[in-house]
Amino acid sequence: MTSNLIKFDDQNKVFHLHNKQISYLLSIEDGGTLSHLYFGGAVKNYNNQLKYPRLDRGFSGNLPESLDRTFSRDSLPKEYSSAGEMDFHTPATIVRNPDGSNALFLAYKSYKIEDGKPDLKGLPHSWTKEDDEAQTLIVTLEDKVSKLEYDLLYTIYRDRPVIVRSVQVHNHGEEAVYLEKVASMQMDYVDKDFEVITLPGAHANERRVQRENIGQGIKVFSSHRGTSSHQMNPFMALVDHDTNEFMGEAYGFALAYSGNHKFEVERDQFGQIHVNTGINDYNFKWKLNPNEEFQTPEVLMVYSDQGLNKMSQAFHSLIHERIMRSKFKDQIRPVLVNNWEATYFDFNEDKLKTIVDKAKKLGLEMFVLDDGWFGHRDDDNSSLGDWKVYKKKFPNGLGHFADYVHEQGLKFGLWFEPEMISYESNLYKEHPDYLMHVPGRKPCPSRNQYVLELGRKEVRDNIFEQMVKILDSKKIDYIKWDMNRSLSDIYESDLPADQQGEAYHRYVLGYYDLLNKLVTRYPDILFEGCSGGGGRFDVGQAYYTPQIWASDNTDAIERLKIQYGTSFVYPQSMMTSHVSVSPNEQNGRITPFNTRGAVAMWGDLGYELDLTKMSDEESDQVVKQVTEYKKIREVTQFGTLYRLKASASNQCAWMMVDSNKNEAVVTVVNVMAHAQPYCTKTKLAGLDPDKRYKNLETDEVFGGDELMHLGFYDPIERGDFKAKMYHFKAIN
Ligand code: DGJ
Repeated sequence: MTSNLIKFDDQNKVFHLHNKQISYLLSIEDGGTLSHLYFGGAVKNYNNQLKYPRLDRGFSGNLPESLDRTFSRDSLPKEYSSAGEMDFHTPATIVRNPDGSNALFLAYKSYKIEDGKPDLKGLPHSWTKEDDEAQTLIVTLEDKVSKLEYDLLYTIYRDRPVIVRSVQVHNHGEEAVYLEKVASMQMDYVDKDFEVITLPGAHANERRVQRENIGQGIKVFSSHRGTSSHQMNPFMALVDHDTNEFMGEAYGFALAYSGNHKFEVERDQFGQIHVNTGINDYNFKWKLNPNEEFQTPEVLMVYSDQGLNKMSQAFHSLIHERIMRSKFKDQIRPVLVNNWEATYFDFNEDKLKTIVDKAKKLGLEMFVLDDGWFGHRDDDNSSLGDWKVYKKKFPNGLGHFADYVHEQGLKFGLWFEPEMISYESNLYKEHPDYLMHVPGRKPCPSRNQYVLELGRKEVRDNIFEQMVKILDSKKIDYIKWDMNRSLSDIYESDLPADQQGEAYHRYVLGYYDLLNKLVTRYPDILFEGCSGGGGRFDVGQAYYTPQIWASDNTDAIERLKIQYGTSFVYPQSMMTSHVSVSPNEQNGRITPFNTRGAVAMWGDLGYELDLTKMSDEESDQVVKQVTEYKKIREVTQFGTLYRLKASASNQCAWMMVDSNKNEAVVTVVNVMAHAQPYCTKTKLAGLDPDKRYKNLETDEVFGGDELMHLGFYDPIERGDFKAKMYHFKAIN
């Protein structure tokens, strides 16, 4: 054993996962019950003192054949609860046995400790570079009657305040059982009066921070749209009432999965908090035959004793360093122009060339050809599934245009929506059965498009081959992978009736398989995820695509809230953000060009407007923005993020600082102007108190401690929506 991060105290039956930042403790109790003891700040030595009080609780029953009325699975904090074992909490797992019952009594069987971290087959997962940077505890629970075994996997990294959990179910019995629910983890807290933070939203309004109390009962935060969704991001944090960005405890949970998810938070009759996280059990029923296994997605659990910023930073570095795999994850992202809001479907090669020419003049680095280049697509009613160039728009072929873009010194990016099919397409004419629908029923359109049965290999292969033909024919530097509807009419035609409850999850596995084949075959293409903006912005997606289009809402002021919420979990290099026209296309708001640039520089900067229609003054501003951005993007894309002022107030402020604390970029946006303005200050964070920093615009010099404790006054400006950026560098 090289890393010694997990100890087992055989005498007291206690497992202790620990590093310098956190401890996680669990123990084996009466009846082989796996009990949760603690997750929080590091404890060097645990002296086995934390005994859950034994009480005879009315209506909370006891272990089978036991006369001890003081031990109840209904009150004891546990690692994993099942239905059918006299634990009345929302179960982490539910099975349907061959006899029709849901009885499952999970008891400790054995454990293993492994160096490193096992890969999950077919699912995104965190990984290790060296085996000694993490250890994994696998605790096996068994149900003696059905011979089902549950392996609970816990990975602790040496240098992160993180535990990664997942569950594997094995059927060692003689008959098939049906899994009706398998959460990736459960967490129980005994004496915590938490608030819960989630990231709900809507299309063009994703990941708004919501914070609420938890009263007795069950709160559910979930998606059953087939994707992780705009409406509820697969993330939740439990925080104390006084936790803020810099202070207090925060427990963050992020599921590495891009399909249906469910986060349950229950406050029970004793004030205890019980949490389950995993695949949503809505329309889920998985047939597990003898000798088969089922693997849940992983959940990343972060502990912070210094507020929400520290929680987010732990997620950011884990996702960036140990979830993403693309070689681009560490590379500076190019400044692009995307033609979607510039032209929508109304373009041809000549029109696009004028945008490319202007992009070159302004110092941009990539042109992205969005929706409308294939089949005979002039609007969103046709051609999905026909991945061949639209000759009317590109009479000389796509390659000819790609060459032109490259000749101008720009990279070339291309949009696909591989999971979809239009009625009006050759693919539908040739393979109507590829379109997901329930036999005998008419499927529901959304944006007049339908979903492919991605659970079927034949369907995936067809799309893969079509895409390969395009990607092999010319140099393509970037792909934007879009997905513009939620799943409905859930069915997979190669599955028997009793397995239709697998269709949702098999879709996600099929999606991952197709995506994985493409990213593996084309390691030199930068992939960007997208689902009508940020409808699939999750940790699972980050495993395949190091960046994601954050929202179809490009208004700088609404983006403040979207990006603020996104930053709770996801690193800023993962979030793409574009300057678009004013009045804004989505909400008509008029904002200064400077503010649009400053807000877009929170993520990977791009432009999404017709560059040829800009005034000279605006063109000059683009040149200025791009020149400045090239100087700061190493820090803004990869530096440590601190949220300084919340987006819910009249000001939003954030900063990024490089790992050596030598360079920092700060942005402050004042939303509404006032005739009698309050004088506000911005105080920085994460600097070296002993270093001196120069404001590169004014040459003023400040101590790091001065900037962090005193801060500086924000400018008082007339007019709404004003942004100010500051670039500080340490001097000797
Ligand atoms: C939704 C995306 O979020 C947009 O950026 C654009 O690509 C459209 N789809 C194209 O249909």
